[in-house]
Amino acid sequence: MRNKHRKSSAFHCNAGSRCSLPALVWSLVACVLMIHFSSHIRHDDKAEVPVHLNRKPLTRELEEIEEENFQMPPPRGKRSPRAIKRRGPRRPPSAIDEFLDESSELRNLFFPDRRTVIDPVNGGNDSMYFYPGRQWLDTDGNPIHAHGGGLLYDENSETYYWYGENKDGPTYQAHKRGAARVDIIGVSCYSSKDLWTWKNEGIVLPGEEVNTTHDLYKLNVLERPKVIQNDKTKQYVMWMHIDDVNYTKASVGVAVSNSPTGPFEYLYSKRPHGFDSRDMTIFKDDDGKAYLIYSSEDNSELHISPLTEDYLDVSQTMRRILIGRHREAPALFKDKGTYYMITSGCTGWAPNRALAHAAESIMGPWETMGNPCVGGNKVFRMTTFFSQSTFVVPLPGLPGSFMFMADRWNLADLRDSRYVWLPLTVGGPADEPLEYSFGFPVWSRVSVYWHRKWKLPDGWRVD
Ligand SMILES: *[C@@H]1O[C@H](CO)[C@@H](O)[C@H](O)[C@H]1NC(C)=O
Ligand SMILES: *[C@@H]1O[C@H](CO)[C@@H](O)[C@H](O)[C@H]1NC(C)=O
Ligand SMILES: *[C@@H]1O[C@H](CO)[C@@H](O)[C@H](O)[C@H]1NC(C)=O
Repeated sequence: MRNKHRKSSAFHCNAGSRCSLPALVWSLVACVLMIHFSSHIRHDDKAEVPVHLNRKPLTRELEEIEEENFQMPPPRGKRSPRAIKRRGPRRPPSAIDEFLDESSELRNLFFPDRRTVIDPVNGGNDSMYFYPGRQWLDTDGNPIHAHGGGLLYDENSETYYWYGENKDGPTYQAHKRGAARVDIIGVSCYSSKDLWTWKNEGIVLPGEEVNTTHDLYKLNVLERPKVIQNDKTKQYVMWMHIDDVNYTKASVGVAVSNSPTGPFEYLYSKRPHGFDSRDMTIFKDDDGKAYLIYSSEDNSELHISPLTEDYLDVSQTMRRILIGRHREAPALFKDKGTYYMITSGCTGWAPNRALAHAAESIMGPWETMGNPCVGGNKVFRMTTFFSQSTFVVPLPGLPGSFMFMADRWNLADLRDSRYVWLPLTVGGPADEPLEYSFGFPVWSRVSVYWHRKWKLPDGWRVD
């Protein structure tokens, strides 16, 4: 698939084959020009976000490789009935089994208890430190509820807004073979200047309690809300995954507001281009064009489509990407003119291996570059640090540095799902596809670094 979709302008030359010297020289020249050119573009993009920095950024420490060791507990006589059902009585438990088993001795490793909360009010010496997987409180002292979320940087208020699913209700199964779920409560919004101290702005799009035919009726599904602002209409537009309890509606929903803190007015849902759409995200490019990216054809491929000028619908154009690769949870970002995307595999609430993808044009072709996760240990890397991607946000003032945002789903109690936010950088040669390593362009590696505890450079904040 990768080969078929290569642009014809790409310079093919495998490591083992013969290449003409002039071609090699020209591709190097082109590469240098491209880097030069794109560094100018980048400079211009970032000029708009005012960043406050007390001292020169030290991003290198964010890239330190940190190990994470844990001992698998010895086999036990008693396990929860759910765990036995999942893997049968005999097979020795894997780390993922332990993760999914709410009675596991490792539970506190994955879901540390209330004593270790990240608390912006009583943070003390831990102020500004991210602890992936710990409970995270807002400025009122309540756990943050913004799952499957995304950030919006609002230039008017020079503030970050974090939107996500409010899952502050009981977890249950709608029927015997149904997935674990929480009723639709609504989309929460939090605001921050430093990405660490979050103020609750309330539920900006509530679920519907009574009207059973409404898309947001509480027994339906609302996932992965994302918000962007339209520069022309000035409206804040929210896109989200809308479904029924059995995930057969497979649609996208659209809501709109004149303020980042809502209230959002729900407009409608549809199957984009007539296709099923489950996990999705939206991406606003530097030129003001925005795109919808959604898992389709039963999650076997992704589709990408430009939104209309007002962002309230998809345009006619649609491309299929990553065909047959069964990816979901897409998170897009752009660095030096190249588009990148992180996706997960499709294993329900259970964690799996992330993949990074890259493209010259957002409409594709997209190439797969391998697992971005660095550090931790092998199990951590093969499970995206026991989490699933949801968003990647650039860090103004720190070129090439991003925040990777993921959800550590707590299958037994979805309201207690945790956030795994880690530094992401773009740089160095990609692991795959090796067959193009002499070609043009050479993708840069996307790396997400495991840290048990980390912080942004001192004094980093917007405005
Ligand atoms: C903060 O750190 C200092 C020096 O390590 C220590 O003396 C102090 O007790 C700590 N305070 C808190 C609240 O942990
Ligand atoms: C219930 O929701 C549907 C779909 O949004 C709408 O057409 C209908 O008017 C609503 N009914 C009431 C009583 O609000
Ligand atoms: C979901 O599936 C279950 C089991 O097949 C069925 O009983 C139920 O009516 C379905 N619900 C909806 C809303 O489709």
